[in-house]
Amino acid sequence: SAPLRTHAASKGKFIGAALATSPLSNETAYRNIAATEFNQITAENAMKWDATEPSQNQFNFSGADAIVNFATQNNQQVHGHTLVWHQQTPGWVQGLGASAMRSAIQNHISQVVGRYADNPAVVSWDVVNEVFEENGSMRSSFWYNTLGQSYIADAFRAARAADPDARLCINDYNVEGINAKSTAMYNLVSSLRQQGVPVDCVGFQGHLAIQYGFPNDLQQNLERFAALGVQVRITELDIRMQMPRNSSKDATQATYYRNVINACLAVTACAGVTIWGFTDKHSWVPDTFGGEGAALIYDENYQQKASYTAVHDAL
Ligand code: XIL
Repeated sequence: SAPLRTHAASKGKFIGAALATSPLSNETAYRNIAATEFNQITAENAMKWDATEPSQNQFNFSGADAIVNFATQNNQQVHGHTLVWHQQTPGWVQGLGASAMRSAIQNHISQVVGRYADNPAVVSWDVVNEVFEENGSMRSSFWYNTLGQSYIADAFRAARAADPDARLCINDYNVEGINAKSTAMYNLVSSLRQQGVPVDCVGFQGHLAIQYGFPNDLQQNLERFAALGVQVRITELDIRMQMPRNSSKDATQATYYRNVINACLAVTACAGVTIWGFTDKHSWVPDTFGGEGAALIYDENYQQKASYTAVHDAL
């Protein structure tokens, strides 16, 4: 039957995947599925600061370009990920004083966003990522501790200046349901937009786990953000389980995938859903969450799982 992207496109949505550069160049099955099933791509790591500007003002776009070229060849849109984050940012940035750090943000955003500003494949960016603590206070990162909250507005303005047409997003995890963290996000986006800061979009990462339950207010949460006038999107969906897999866990996982797709379909402002990879062969989950895994829609042998069927049938 038709690939996911055909069904998503018929609903006016994207269905995407995060891609890693090494299997993209080494594995035919990885490349073929990535090309045929998805109409949107996010670089899993290749556009992060440590990849694009490992030392000050020395830019390396080899991985980023590989992703963008792949997307161009396959008629896919690229979501740039990510410009200002407290992880995967080199030590030279973290040690800067306030004035030099402000300049480093400006230069980084102008160079990275600027490189793809005229490239029709690259349509959106995660400008800031994970700026909140779980209780909704501002995360105590080197960004915040050096610059205060102003770095967020500065980063959005720099991105707008570098590409006036790109859709600019703020992105976070554990904000899928209505809770202290998502309400802090809501209040920040509302206040930034009132001040004229160009925030166009909110990304809900969607790193879920079947043992923690489904955020049943996901659709309601997306709707309250949509009412602020922003686009919403699920940016990093994966649904992990405690290993080993079994058919009952797979069925629960499939239901969660279906629920996420249905929530996005139900909200006009939801642009689409990006899955954080697609094959369990290449997933950050086992490396990050001890004893957990099998979070994606293809198994380690590139066979479609119940979760694939759930996404397919929901679209
Ligand atoms: C993860 C990647 O998947 C890993 O390969 C890498 O080692 C660490 O980062 N939130 C994000 C993503 O915004 O960039 C993270 O990606 C997962 C959590």
